[in-house]
Amino acid sequence: MKKKDKRRTAEAKEPSGFSRRRFIQTLGLAGASAAIPLTQGCGTGEVGPEIPSEGLGPAAVEISLKVNGQNVKLAVEPRVTLLDALRDHLKLGSADPVDLTGSKRVCDRGSCGACTMMIGGRTVYSCTTLAVEAQGKDIKTVEGLAKDGQLHPVQEEFIACDGLMCGFCTPGFIVSGAACLEKKPNATRDEIRRALDGNIRRCGTQNRALEACEKAAWRMKGRR
Ligand code: FES
Repeated sequence: MKKKDKRRTAEAKEPSGFSRRRFIQTLGLAGASAAIPLTQGCGTGEVGPEIPSEGLGPAAVEISLKVNGQNVKLAVEPRVTLLDALRDHLKLGSADPVDLTGSKRVCDRGSCGACTMMIGGRTVYSCTTLAVEAQGKDIKTVEGLAKDGQLHPVQEEFIACDGLMCGFCTPGFIVSGAACLEKKPNATRDEIRRALDGNIRRCGTQNRALEACEKAAWRMKGRR
């Protein structure tokens, strides 16, 4: 019996009609599309990608995203991560379009947090989130934190506290800190620390990042 025929026969024998081969394929699809949320001390919202990715691709498909309050359309292969889609395939703004390169790709495997964005108010590693999954949700990057030319308090305090060294991990820290305080402006130091748990820096200024977020929390509390 030819190899191909053997495989067909084996699949046909599965009593449930759901072959092992099909099961493994399904697992692969589910694994590839699982967005990894960060640890969150402030208990932010939900990611919940609702857009079915089954049957899409492999060629580029048109997707609609809402990024920093703007609705945009772009064509990407379904395998493209949110990080790559925004960094490499999108410019935002009509008069003077800008690249969205604030979120950084460092580990590209969901362990460092440099690529952190918010989806629906919750922080996620955008390097492990597919762009097609982010449709229908509010996506916020570090570029979307400033309002009317005014930096977010977390951004201002990072500058004031000298909370960055090379700056590569900084956008991820700032997004995590801002997400925490937007959800819970009176977050305690421990809650902020837990919100930053999913972000790693190797230069030894972790405490300054924590201090910056804590000072931003004091300011945000004072404004309310
Ligand atoms: S680049 Fe995404 S977690 Fe490191």
